[in-house]
Parts: sequence; structure tokens; C-alpha cells
Amino acid sequence: MRISALSVLSSLSFLSVTRASVTVYGQIPYADSSATSTGAGATYTGAAAYDPTVLTPPALPNPMPNLQPTVQLSSSSSNIGGLSLSIPQIGAFYGFSIEVSVVTQVLGLNSSFLLPVFLNLMANIKERAGAVHVRVGGNTQEYATVVPSLSDGKAMEKDKNSINNPTETPTLYLTPEIFYMLGNISSLVNVNWYLGIPFNDTSNFRLQIAEISEAVLGDHLLGLQVGNEPDLYVSHGHRSAGYDQANYVGEFGQLVAALAGDANIPVKNKLISPSVSGTWSPESVFDAGLVTNYGSSIGALSVEHYPTDNCYPEYQVGTYHDPQQEFPSYLTHTAGQYLVQPYLNSTNYAQSVGKPFLMFETNTASCGGFPGVSDSFGSALWALDYGLQMAYANFSGAMIHVGGQNVYYNPFTPPPTNQSSYHQWTIGPVYYSVLVMAEALGPSGQSQVTDLNLNQNQFTPGYAIYESGKLAKLALFNYMDDLQTGNGAYTVTISIDGQALGLQNGVPPQVKVKRLASSSVSNHANITWAGQTLGGVFESDGRLMGDLQVDTVSCDQGANTCQIKVPAPGFALVFLGDDTYNEVNTAAPQTFATTKWTKTVNTATIDPGVLATSNGRGKTDEMGSTSRGESGTGTRVYVGAGSVALAAMLLGAMVVGRAL
Ligand SMILES: *[C@@H]1O[C@H](CO)[C@@H](O)[C@H](O)[C@H]1NC(C)=O
Ligand SMILES: *[C@@H]1O[C@H](CO)[C@@H](O)[C@H](O)[C@H]1NC(C)=O
Ligand SMILES: *[C@@H]1O[C@H](CO)[C@@H](O)[C@H](O)[C@H]1NC(C)=O
Ligand SMILES: *[C@@H]1O[C@H](CO)[C@@H](O)[C@H](O)[C@H]1NC(C)=O
Ligand SMILES: *[C@@H]1O[C@H](CO)[C@@H](O)[C@H](O)[C@H]1NC(C)=O
Ligand SMILES: *[C@@H]1O[C@H](CO)[C@@H](O)[C@H](O)[C@H]1NC(C)=O
Ligand SMILES: *[C@@H]1O[C@H](CO)[C@@H](O)[C@H](O)[C@H]1NC(C)=O
Repeated sequence: MRISALSVLSSLSFLSVTRASVTVYGQIPYADSSATSTGAGATYTGAAAYDPTVLTPPALPNPMPNLQPTVQLSSSSSNIGGLSLSIPQIGAFYGFSIEVSVVTQVLGLNSSFLLPVFLNLMANIKERAGAVHVRVGGNTQEYATVVPSLSDGKAMEKDKNSINNPTETPTLYLTPEIFYMLGNISSLVNVNWYLGIPFNDTSNFRLQIAEISEAVLGDHLLGLQVGNEPDLYVSHGHRSAGYDQANYVGEFGQLVAALAGDANIPVKNKLISPSVSGTWSPESVFDAGLVTNYGSSIGALSVEHYPTDNCYPEYQVGTYHDPQQEFPSYLTHTAGQYLVQPYLNSTNYAQSVGKPFLMFETNTASCGGFPGVSDSFGSALWALDYGLQMAYANFSGAMIHVGGQNVYYNPFTPPPTNQSSYHQWTIGPVYYSVLVMAEALGPSGQSQVTDLNLNQNQFTPGYAIYESGKLAKLALFNYMDDLQTGNGAYTVTISIDGQALGLQNGVPPQVKVKRLASSSVSNHANITWAGQTLGGVFESDGRLMGDLQVDTVSCDQGANTCQIKVPAPGFALVFLGDDTYNEVNTAAPQTFATTKWTKTVNTATIDPGVLATSNGRGKTDEMGSTSRGESGTGTRVYVGAGSVALAAMLLGAMVVGRAL
């Protein structure tokens, strides 16, 4: 659910807010004059995405967990004792959910004007996982209409005169350019998309989004969502009182019939449903006959969920939650376990009917998240643990939601439009979670996750990841914050039973370790992944900065032990073999040159002519110019060996600025 303005307050009292997200359909200015502060409820008045509120980290637990735990691992997935192993998972497990109405702020203006920072952010994930999954959808998908073109030449426009209350969802006009833009992004950085079929009027379906996206995106279209949070339709005024699960399933059937009669929609079995947010349980929709009646049309089953409701500060509905008091509840392994538990029966059911089960939209808290929580290093640890927990519990993917300038939880935020000439993007902590998750699961599609119950303690969880049946990686967390005392770091001693690594003793001679680090769970920036960072507010062009720092830890093969230190706070990803390390650590990453200037003349854009021939990894080395009037010599580009030279291409009159 997305709410955009205070003007709807009076009609919101009946709104079910517990799982709401929020997207602003316009731009909110960033207040440069902000006060910095420590503690919640400070005087900052600018946009949430740049709120400097820093919370106090929780005290160390009392009693402390064992700081010298040991763990005995099996080298083969066929022999893991009492532990339970997930279904095989893909590296693109964690993706992003982007509200349709903000795509021209985040992805690009049209098919020939892509935002290079977004491309870099996607390329980082693709490099590790092989692909990126992005859902473009939300409430605005229900009122979207495809038009051939718009009089102002834009690719998309909101009709603010047509507001579908009370969520103030505007009618959205999309031109085919939007779909070509998605297609061009796919060809560059292998993004695969989930889109939605408008579902506001089930007696008069508008199927153009399905028609065009199938034609333009082909296999890059992962699925089409049928209904966004139908369990909130009544409270949002989109259906009459009494609308229930059986009504929704009936409407789903009407859509299946409409698709059957549309020859322009060749693929009819990739529908995503029911995307309920908790007012209805997914089982209540399954039990109304969704899968038994329409299973052959369904590509994946889905839910949407936010752990905590933070709608009170903005809408004065629901319960007020104090961010400082909420903070500790995110800094524990039980947070993710608690979120996943209500869906275990559904993931089990999904397996029994042969369907993937997706968390289609999620983030730290509804209505934009909490200041100081959703934008803290703690949220990066939380989201990574939650993601691994979902993978362990047999979800098949999860999308982290991206809102506008007025949310705290964005994985990435472009600068406000009128500041894009002098500011870069702001990368949120949860982006690192997606990045590390991609690396933890890798590109093979054969990773299986097990929760080790490490140290029998909620502050020091750990997972083992098996790849094609062999122990490949360990994911080790430390939620404790020891900035003040210097205590809390732990050293785990691992032992591995023999055989599968082909060694006499179980442990390899050495392992590689990459760490997700920051000096405190409260930090907003100063987060590093293996020594590299995406910077602070307005600092990122989407490329990791700094030198890669990977620890090589020698093991004691005689004793069959390796000792891995996990700082407090922090996370360590342990690579037990060079093959698993190499497959997610490219020597020459694909990147796209960017510039600080996004005015027409100075904007880095991508030449459609290059796109037409690239498919993301063409062979040409030819370059265009990166400066107006240049003809290609002396151009700096940021492309890896083997990837096509796409960066900052000159595009006729509409050109490209300076490469950095
Ligand atoms: C950006 O736009 C907002 C709202 O339109 C305005 O209040 C603000 O002053 C502008 N900022 C700059 C730097 O132009
Ligand atoms: C894409 O947007 C740019 C910048 O607004 C514009 O100059 C160009 O004509 C647009 N291209 C298309 C194909 O609409
Ligand atoms: C559905 O949305 C379309 C596009 O916004 C609008 O024209 C139509 O009137 C809506 N129908 C209903 C029943 O809400
Ligand atoms: C990229 O966009 C251009 C301009 O609209 C279009 O001609 C081209 O076919 C697109 N390429 C892909 C792969 O979609
Ligand atoms: C599990 O899900 C199935 C399928 O929806 C449902 O019929 C069953 O009642 C659920 N079991 C429990 C214990 O909730
Ligand atoms: C995940 O699925 C596997 C394979 O069906 C099963 O063995 C395992 O128990 C499931 N895990 C959970 C947490 O339900
Ligand atoms: C973050 O890093 C910068 C540059 O190294 C440093 O000046 C700043 O004090 C750090 N801030 C925190 C909160 O650690």
C-alpha cells in the first residue's frame, strides 16, 4: 500500500496499516539546512532518506554468549545430521521491488536514457549472481494504462486529476518506451522483471502490459502479478465491503479466461498470486481454490510483508513505536525466524504443488521504516539474516522495496531531481545485504542453505551453504556492538568431516574470508564489504570504492580446525574453496561511467545503437566519445575485459558528460 499525502488523513482511519509501505508520487525537497542529531525525535525536517538520526546501540547481552564457539560441519549435504537443508536457491534470491510510478526517477527516462548509477548497482549483483530480479509494481500497477505516446514526449505520466482514494494512487499512463527501457536494461545487466496486470476493473481488463512486456522482454519477464494486496482492497476502497478470498479467486479466473482469448499473450502460465499482506493468510486464498482451480496458470505463489507498522508518525493511525525501543528487536536472529515462521506451512504447500513461493515486497517497517533503524548498519545485518532465513525456509526469492525520498529504508535513492546536477545517489545499508546475499548463494542455482543454530545464541547466528551437495561457504553474524567496551567479537572454530573436499583432513589448508563491517550497528554510512564501500549520503555512482580486502586464514589440517573471527558488530562470509570464491569475484567488473551532471547536455546515457548489438556481452571494443564534440579518443570507460564497451557512449546531440 502506498500513501502519498496528508490530505487523505481523514479517510485513513479505517485503513489497515500494519503492512503498509509508502511511496510518494512526487518529489520532496531535501532540506540542506538539517540539524544533525543523536536520538530519536530530533529536529530534522528534511526528506526521510537523508535523516541523520543516529540511535544508541543496545548494550551487550547479559549473560554474554560463548565467544569461542565450535562447530562440526559435514562436507557433504547428504550427511548433515539433525539439520535441515533448503531447496536449491539462486544467487538472485534477493531482488528489488520498485513502485511503477518511480521508475523514471530510478531506472531512466526512456529506452535511450538509462541512469548509469542504476546500471552499476544492478551490475554489482549480476556479477555475483548471474542475474538480478526486479519487480516493478505496487498500487499504481492497478490503475496503469498503456498509451501509444504522450504529448509532452515523456515515457510515463501520472494523472494527478484522477486520484483513486484513499491511497491517493494516481492513474498512470505508460508508453511502450517504458518496456523498451526495461528491455535495454536487461540486455546490459541481465535484469529479469516481475510486472503487474492492472486489476482495478475485472470486467474490462487492460491486458496491454502483458502483451507488450511479453513481446519486448521475452524470457526476461519472470512473471505477472495478479492483484497487489487484494486483502486490502476493501479498506482502500477498491472493492465493496464483503469482498473475500472466494471473490478474489473468482476474479483471478476471469483474468485466466481473458488471457486465454488473447493471442498476443503467448505465455499464459507465469501469473503471480495472491500477494496478500497478512489481513488474509495465504492459506485462506489457497483453500478458496486458487491453485486447485488455476494452478496451470500460476508461475509462483507470493506474499508481501513488513515486520512492524510505523504508520503512526505520518498518519496517526495504529500504534506509535519508538525507534530507539524497536532497534534491539532487529538485532537478533529471532527477528528473521519470527518473520518466516508464519509462512512455513505455505512454503511447504508451495513445494507440494510444485510452485516457487516469493516474498514479493518487504523491508524493515511499513510506512517508510524507522529513522535510525532502517538506515543503519544494523538493518544490513537484519536483512541479510532475514534473507538467508527465507532461503533456508524454502522461499524462492524476496524483493526489498524501494520507495521515494521520504522513506528511511531505501536500498538506493537517486538525488531529488533538481539536485541531480551536483549530487550522486545515496546507498542504504540493505543494498549491501542484497549484494552479500548474491555472493553467498552465487550463480550456480545449486546452493542449499542450512541454519546451524550456531552457539545456541540469538546474537551470533550462522549458516552453512552447500553447493551441488558440497560444503561451500559459511555465513557468520555478530549482532553485538562493542564500540564502547571492545568486547563482543567472537572466534568460531570449525571442523569438517573428511572426504568430500578430497582432503585427508576435513578442513582445507586455508580459507578466504570477506567481512561486512562498520564500527557500530547505528552507523548509516561507513559500511564496508571486504574493505569497499558505496559511500554516504549523495556519494555513490553505484560502483564499489576502495581496495578489496580479503583475509586468507590458514587452517590447522592436523587438528582439523579453522578459526574465524567475527567482529562485533559484523558479518563474515567464509569461502572454503577457491572455486566458490572465484565464481563470485570477477577480476574485471562491468561498470558504466557516470558523471555528476544530468542536465541534458551533460548526461551520461547509453547509445541505443550499441544496445541493439550488445546483448550485454558483445565483442566490440569500439567507443564513443564521453565529451561533447569529442570523437572517441582519450575516452575513459569502465568496462571489464570481455564485456562490451558500453560506457558513456556518445549519442548524437543528446550526449554524454564527463566520465569520472
Ligand atoms: C528543489 O525543488 C524544491 C521543490 O520544488 C524547492 O523547494 C527547492 O528549493 C529546490 N531546490 C533547489 C536547490 O533548487
Ligand atoms: C529520452 O529522453 C531524453 C531526455 O529527456 C530525450 O532527449 C529523448 O528524446 C528521449 N528519447 C525518446 C526515444 O523518447
Ligand atoms: C480502472 O483504471 C482505469 C485507468 O486508470 C480507469 O480508466 C477506470 O475507470 C478504472 N476502473 C474502475 C472500475 O475503477
Ligand atoms: C533499446 O532501445 C532502443 C530505442 O527505443 C530500441 O530501438 C532498441 O530496440 C532497444 N533494445 C532492446 C534490446 O530492447
Ligand atoms: C497449511 O496449508 C494448507 C494449504 O493452504 C491448508 O489447507 C492447511 O490448513 C494449512 N495448515 C495449517 C496448520 O495451517
Ligand atoms: C525445505 O524443503 C526441504 C525439501 O523439501 C525440507 O526437507 C525442509 O525441511 C524444508 N525446510 C523448512 C524449514 O521447512
Ligand atoms: C566515517 O568515515 C569517515 C572517513 O573515514 C570519518 O571521517 C568518519 O568519522 C566516520 N564516521 C563514523 C561514524 O565512523
